Amino acid sequence: MSIESLFVFGAGQMGAGIAQVAAASDISVTLYDKFDLQLDKAKKSIEFSLAKHLEKGQIDKAKLDKTLSLVTFTASLPSAIKADLVIEAAVEDMEIKKEIFKTLSELVTPATILATNTSSLSITKIASVTKNPEQVIGMHFMNPVPLMALVEIIRGIQTSDSTFQAVADCTKKLGKTVVEAKKDFPGFIVNRILVPMINEAFFVLMEGIASPEDIDEAMKLGTNQPMGPLKLADLVGLDTCLFICEIFHKELGEDKYRPCPLLRKYVEAGWLGRKTKKGVYTY
Ligand code: 3HC
Repeated sequence: MSIESLFVFGAGQMGAGIAQVAAASDISVTLYDKFDLQLDKAKKSIEFSLAKHLEKGQIDKAKLDKTLSLVTFTASLPSAIKADLVIEAAVEDMEIKKEIFKTLSELVTPATILATNTSSLSITKIASVTKNPEQVIGMHFMNPVPLMALVEIIRGIQTSDSTFQAVADCTKKLGKTVVEAKKDFPGFIVNRILVPMINEAFFVLMEGIASPEDIDEAMKLGTNQPMGPLKLADLVGLDTCLFICEIFHKELGEDKYRPCPLLRKYVEAGWLGRKTKKGVYTY
């Protein structure tokens, strides 16, 4: 099956980024959110990102206009019926995701593939509420979506080979490199490795071993990462990092995944990172 039209559920930072890269790859995309305000914010963020690409000479004005023209912003869910692939990018909450997938499953055609951009929740559990669990899959984009080359694709226990192949082909069409998580375990590949590292950076900070700047400089220059773990935590969102740590701790049941109390304290304070202008650093 070839994917020609896409529907993105949820116009947050990730949903907007996914819609942008689809449109930039000449795929017509509908970006849905129930809140008009969120749709306005998404439109502005896509325009900002495309303007950056234009400013840097990575695209011309014609490409910018064409990309924008391929994104339809809507607060109407029934338009999902026309899509070959629906990508859900809503909040990381299992009950909400189950509700969304149940609704989508009733709405779309039998051929439609339903993907979730979850960072750590069970694809298998999400798929269990749908009519065709073999057509449900994980499609985990990295933040910021327009700049990051990777998408990890995760098979739920019921995902069919044809669903995997169609989604892998579509991801390549989006200009992204695919890696496959063969098993649906919390955090898949990237977050299973990345988030414990970020959590450990908070322990190093809490124990007074080094300043935030030196922790980040150490990992940036010492291991050639583009940004240090604390700066990255601010980019990802401290609430998201804590949520993923909690999932690991609960689902994998090992003490090594316990969230750092300092990370928890920052989240309690509302210091969530760049999005609140204060996290480990102030913006
Ligand atoms: N579109 C276009 N431009 C963008 C952008 C976007 N969405 N977001 C930022 N930019 C621009 C900035 O405005 C800035 O522009 P300027 O040069 O005019 O100021 C430029 O990109 C960034 O330039 P920098 O010099 O700050 O940054 P780099 O050249 O180093 O690249 C980066 C930025 C790609 C974000 C790089 O720092 C990086 O790779 N960081 C690590 C990101 C990462 O690891 N992401 C994955 C997180 S894990 C995840 O997402 C999974 C989830 O489930 C938790």
